Amino acid sequence: MTNGISDKVVVITGASSGLGAAAARMLSKEGAMVVLAARRADRIQALADELVAAGRKAFALATDVTQYDEVKRLVDTSVQKYGRVDVLINNAGIMPVAPIERLKVDEWNSMIDINLKGVLYGVAAALPHMKQQKSGHLVFVSSVAGHKVAPGMIVYAATKHAVRALAEGVRQELRHHNIRTTVISPGAVRTELLNGISEPDVAEMLRKRVESYGLPDESFARAVVFALSQPEEMDVNEILFRPIRQEL
Ligand SMILES: NC(=O)c1ccc[n+]([C@@H]2O[C@H](COP(=O)([O-])OP(=O)(O)OC[C@H]3O[C@@H](n4cnc5c(N)ncnc54)[C@H](OP(=O)(O)O)[C@@H]3O)[C@@H](O)[C@H]2O)c1
Repeated sequence: MTNGISDKVVVITGASSGLGAAAARMLSKEGAMVVLAARRADRIQALADELVAAGRKAFALATDVTQYDEVKRLVDTSVQKYGRVDVLINNAGIMPVAPIERLKVDEWNSMIDINLKGVLYGVAAALPHMKQQKSGHLVFVSSVAGHKVAPGMIVYAATKHAVRALAEGVRQELRHHNIRTTVISPGAVRTELLNGISEPDVAEMLRKRVESYGLPDESFARAVVFALSQPEEMDVNEILFRPIRQEL
């Protein structure tokens, strides 16, 4: 009996902290070969070393998802090293939120470049391999903010709504190639995500909430394991989860 994860090649963007690192650890424990990508090379290398020391297969490749060439190199290298790419977890993202009237235009651009264009680059990099293999699984990380718009975080919400739209379109177009598509939309989870907020009042308000009821990052990893471990003919398209105390 296979668990549906063992020996799968899983590429994870944003694997240097938070949800991506937690998913890498759990999938690796389940027998996946994981490829870790993020900009902080020292962090992903340390995680790869930890997994390899535990007897598993893993490697790290520094990747900036805003650079298509780097994302393509990431997936191509995974295929060269492990022979295929079974799963791409498009997880890298940032959340420098602020009220729209503060006009943080550079941060809007970064969110669009990383949260949306970075995800598109992942699809572009993985698709030729998955088509050739006639199998694959694209995992997208949206958010509760991809379902609901709230004041103070509308550009982030726009990118996360866009990720869900993209994933649903990809599902419709690529199912003929036997490519599965899963969107995971977490509520508040305790990670480093709030460190990217430049406005101190916004950061403090959100930090209080996340410290009070945020879930541990394993919550996301369990959702990933659930989606990946289903039989091949079953496509888990959406998972939305929140801490029970989260209102929005
Ligand atoms: N935590 C939550 O409550 C929550 C809720 C809903 C959705 N999410 C989503 O979950 C995903 C992961 O976030 P997290 O909570 O785990 O936060 P995190 O701990 O800050 O992790 C974000 C990851 O994204 C990577 N990243 C950022 N920009 C990148 C770039 N240009 N190229 C490559 N990697 C990049 C970071 O690595 P480097 O800085 O090393 O590049 C880091 O590994 C994000 O898409 C986020 O929007 C989080």
